[in-house]
Amino acid sequence: MQILFVGDVFGQAGRHIVREHLRHVIEENHVDLVVINVENAAGGFGVTPGIAEEIFSLGAHVLTTGNHVWDKKEIADYLQSARADGDEQPRRLLRPANYPGSAPGYGFYEGKLGNSQSYAVINLQGRVFMGSLEDPFRAADTLLEKIQAKVILVDFHAEATSEKIALGWYLDGRVTGVIGTHTHVPTADERVLPNGTAYQTDVGMSGPFDSVIGVQKELVLARFLTGLPGKFEAAKGDPRMCASLIECDGLTGKATSIRRLMLGE
Ligand SMILES: [Fe+2]
Ligand SMILES: [Fe+2]
Repeated sequence: MQILFVGDVFGQAGRHIVREHLRHVIEENHVDLVVINVENAAGGFGVTPGIAEEIFSLGAHVLTTGNHVWDKKEIADYLQSARADGDEQPRRLLRPANYPGSAPGYGFYEGKLGNSQSYAVINLQGRVFMGSLEDPFRAADTLLEKIQAKVILVDFHAEATSEKIALGWYLDGRVTGVIGTHTHVPTADERVLPNGTAYQTDVGMSGPFDSVIGVQKELVLARFLTGLPGKFEAAKGDPRMCASLIECDGLTGKATSIRRLMLGE
């Protein structure tokens, strides 16, 4: 079984590059399950219901997010409209599971593909150099007690490399993959851990690389040089799609390989 995980789609440039490449990457690699992080899909900040549905229509089964999920106000209602046991699209848009339980939406999804293959996706957010949420390690334990599927992909949306690697080791052998998001720069440390969990510290963004992690570089430079607040706008140049392709055994959920992809124009 092949799983494609596409990193943080950033603004219009990110949506275009994903639209350009997703179909042929899926076909060439016989991808069964497609998961895409969309936390920056709407102008770099959050995601709207319309953009979520546009990305579902490209072939994504589940969409994940992170700290930017709440940036567009209308997404809270969309997430809240998710039905706990249905296969409606809002239910397949996730926010990190370790937000307080009162937050709209869900942090995991468990479902079946057309060929009856069971799978689950978990979205977690780190706590180091980020807002204080509940413990992502214990949140993973709690979710894994509920989930029946063997094939389980975890999007760990976190800043600190150490926290990401630690979660990879913590979940080794219990999930199919732990893939990091949020820093927007792909790391060259993809590997299958000893007990069968594919791991990569960060998958990288799908967005404009002529930027500072997606934002127009002049605006970010001005903030560093002056210390003054200013509005950030999504950049456009040099779009690339960053993704990871995980091969696993559909019966056991154990990963057998992981490969990094970066596709430009
Ligand atoms: Fe992001
Ligand atoms: Fe983020």
